[in-house]
Amino acid sequence: MTELRLRVNGTARALSLPPQVSLLDALREHLGLTGTKKGCDQGACGACTVLADGVRINSCLALAVQYDGAEITTVEGLDDPLQAAFVRHDGLQCGYCTPGQLCSAIGMLDEHRSGAPSAVTADVGAPRAELTDAEIRERMSGNLCRCGAYNGIVDAIREVATP
Ligand code: FES
Ligand code: FES
Repeated sequence: MTELRLRVNGTARALSLPPQVSLLDALREHLGLTGTKKGCDQGACGACTVLADGVRINSCLALAVQYDGAEITTVEGLDDPLQAAFVRHDGLQCGYCTPGQLCSAIGMLDEHRSGAPSAVTADVGAPRAELTDAEIRERMSGNLCRCGAYNGIVDAIREVATP
């Protein structure tokens, strides 16, 4: 067993886990935070996206022990205008992908604000790419939605990105 400490949604949590436990399973199975979803469990769908020290990660691909001491934010800890925007724009249907979409979008907007380019950014030398729909789609392409709520998700992200 490995001892580790996480700060999850602002609360200090101590865990004793086998070293092979993923951060996703630590959150869901050991801390009872089932808002973060397990879709593929192999890094393909983005349903398990959380923020680790403010950066979006696929928690199914992360070992919990790698994040000893980190600040983890899951959907249960979000309080962001993006959540209301998702509702206003029909950015969710079954809602299964929504926790990952929300965490990913918050991380993505931060990356964009800091000037990180994407694969579709024409001028990678510019201080910051214009956040077009193509940029939003590319930057959110790691998050799959089986219900096809993509148009609403893009609308919601555009609304909070450019108030
Ligand atoms: S459950 Fe992690 S990417 Fe699909
Ligand atoms: S809202 Fe159902 S998977 Fe996206």
